[in-house]
Amino acid sequence: MTVSALVGMQWGDEGKGKIVDILAGQADVVVRCQGGANAGHTVVLGSDVFALHLIPSGILRENVVCVIGNGVVVDPVRLSTELDELRSRVSNVDSRFFLSDRAHIVMPWHKTLDALAEGKLGASKIGTTKQGIGPAYIDKVKRCGIRWSQARDLEAFRRLFRAALSDANTLIRLLDGEPMDETETEDKVIALMEKFRPFITDTVSLLHKYAREGKNILLEGAQGAMLDVDFGTYPFVTSSNTTVGGCVTGSGLPPTMLKDVHGLLKAFTTRVGSGPFPTELEGEMATLLRGSGENQWDEFGTTTGRPRRCGWLDLVVARHAARVNGVNRMHITKLDILSQFDEIRICTAYRTKDGETTPDFPSSMSVLEECEPVYETLPGWKCDLPACRTVAELPEAAANYVNRIAEFLEVDVASVSYGPGRDQTAF
Ligand code: GDP
Ligand code: IMO
Ligand code: MG
Repeated sequence: MTVSALVGMQWGDEGKGKIVDILAGQADVVVRCQGGANAGHTVVLGSDVFALHLIPSGILRENVVCVIGNGVVVDPVRLSTELDELRSRVSNVDSRFFLSDRAHIVMPWHKTLDALAEGKLGASKIGTTKQGIGPAYIDKVKRCGIRWSQARDLEAFRRLFRAALSDANTLIRLLDGEPMDETETEDKVIALMEKFRPFITDTVSLLHKYAREGKNILLEGAQGAMLDVDFGTYPFVTSSNTTVGGCVTGSGLPPTMLKDVHGLLKAFTTRVGSGPFPTELEGEMATLLRGSGENQWDEFGTTTGRPRRCGWLDLVVARHAARVNGVNRMHITKLDILSQFDEIRICTAYRTKDGETTPDFPSSMSVLEECEPVYETLPGWKCDLPACRTVAELPEAAANYVNRIAEFLEVDVASVSYGPGRDQTAF
């Protein structure tokens, strides 16, 4: 049996969907552990593009069981759309899908409250995905959330639902929003509870059974270390632990079972939403990294379609992520995008406003905002990357770029990805 976790080492969108799909080739079970439909994980199979938001990216491997773990906040409306789409495109989905009875339900009012709170913040908004993630986790921590186990008894569920909706409407009014219609909202949610009842399971017991049976289990992280509510650029973060701790508490599999922690690093940096971003580029350089939007892989949000902010690779960020996650295997993605540059820069330290350099990621956002990146410049390779199966076959300058990252972070590189397809990967 092996249990491994896969986590993003930047601000999300590192290519987790692609790498989970590759690792799922050796897995029996893939588990989502935290976050919710704020995630958008893309898997490209030939000319087919799949965008997964709640269901683990392992679902495209026909023998892999997929579990939404207890730490995820699950929007039944989004789950319903996603499940129906997958049913029409992938075989055998229903018998391979389980939903934790301990996971919290994202209610329609959570999305309304998310949007209203962002509106009130004005210029200092977080730039959330408006998927109700923050409000759902607030209710969980406040101990007034509703869990999927409660959908097993619909009469009791109705009572909880009505009380929660009434409280939510009070809050909505306070934020100058339009209160939700009680009957309409209730009918819609109840119908979805019935649809999902067959999938609701004690996934903690299920995952421990799989572990005893010697199955290979992969924990699929969402977002990335810099969006972690503890270790990220707080308050410009999401509302869960996106680092390896979230994989553990969100699945019920203990840290002593973890064999590998796979860290995902995009060859440059992107961020969507507000907040500090030391290596951010403007103008033409940013446009070159982002792409025009014509290609499926260009830097526009999978969940929201927003253009992503782009900049050079930041190894201060990556080292912070490697440390807090205990990353022991790294996957570098989107190396192909750097093929267009004569020279490539990597940030290896920050210079503070006192002129001192620091290798550590500051905990204070006001300190971070005054930091300047210190760059190292490496030669580019200026050619399309060839179809290769090993890193040794890459052009010398591209291999040097990869090796410099590995050496700096003191972490082995398990794979380098140079296109969205499964076979565009060197090991
Ligand atoms: P995730 O949230 O970490 O799963 O990443 P997203 O799916 O949001 O964004 C990654 C995008 O890059 C997707 O469109 C992938 O198909 C694409 N992608 C992944 N790896 C590569 C790569 O090596 N090269 C290119 N060009 N695209 C890639
Ligand atoms: P994947 O799993 C990139 C960002 C939002 C916003 C902040 C808070 O695809 O990498 P939220 O809706 O979570 O309250 O928003 O977090 N964010 C992501 N950015 N990739 C994601 O997921 C993200 N999930 C949330 O843009 O800045
Ligand atoms: Mg994404």
